[in-house]
Amino acid sequence: MLDWYVRNQRDLPWRRDSDPYWVLVSEIMLQQTQADRVVGYFERFVAKFPSFAALAAAPRAEVIQIWGGLGYNRRAVYLHQLAQEVEARYGGQLPRNTEQLRALPGIGPYTCGAILSIAFEQDEPALDTNVRRVVARYAFTELPDSRAIEAKARELLPRGRARDWNQAIMDLGATVCLARQPRCQDCPLRPGCRNRDRAFAIPHRSPPKYEGSTRYYRGHLLRTVRQFGALGAIALTLAADDLQARGVAEPKAGWRVVSESLAQDGLLLIEEGANGAIVGLP
Ligand code: ADE
Repeated sequence: MLDWYVRNQRDLPWRRDSDPYWVLVSEIMLQQTQADRVVGYFERFVAKFPSFAALAAAPRAEVIQIWGGLGYNRRAVYLHQLAQEVEARYGGQLPRNTEQLRALPGIGPYTCGAILSIAFEQDEPALDTNVRRVVARYAFTELPDSRAIEAKARELLPRGRARDWNQAIMDLGATVCLARQPRCQDCPLRPGCRNRDRAFAIPHRSPPKYEGSTRYYRGHLLRTVRQFGALGAIALTLAADDLQARGVAEPKAGWRVVSESLAQDGLLLIEEGANGAIVGLP
């Protein structure tokens, strides 16, 4: 696997430096988002905010602005809050243990494992969907539960090599041990794999439909506010007109409810104007 990784790893910008800040930014961006889509956003983000200090000092609106069309915009707020906490509580150094990392905003078990292994070379697995699939197929003849996969991933991890090992499995899952049509002929794990040439499919929840979802309306409203962001704030009715013109009809509950849900998450400010709500980036 490690030899395979040397020869086949994807050239991804966050792999050029294992600076904990770079690892953190990339792993937050990679949550629910494919690596190819993240590349450009990552490069722009670390160019504009090169350190925890720079990010912590930035206005929230700039962070939301640069997050752009990456989606799941709450991640931008979490990342900003996280940088401020790291500055205030840890002197600008990301903590190196599970307990303190998990207490930071936006860091779940996967991201915590990715940071500990990739930034700090600790022997921790980083179990995302791809990695779970690779481990399950390699070591089990039937679909294992989550605890069995984690135990197996820990057992397989070569001591002291977690940084490359975890990213090797990620790449293998993304390019060879594919969910629908695994390319077993090209797999370095084929000799020891319990499912070689007949890999079972891992049932997965298909992602909820985007169009017409809460995420859809939130994403579109925030995009419009971002585009008018240079002007400061805009009337919600004007935003609604703009959205209508782009073919995004008002949701049943109304744009006001959508804007309140964004405000709840720290992504939008709402002011009451004489003629209704005025919205802007915080
Ligand atoms: N997906 C999540 N983390 C990743 C990483 N470090 N490299 C490639 N894909 C990933």
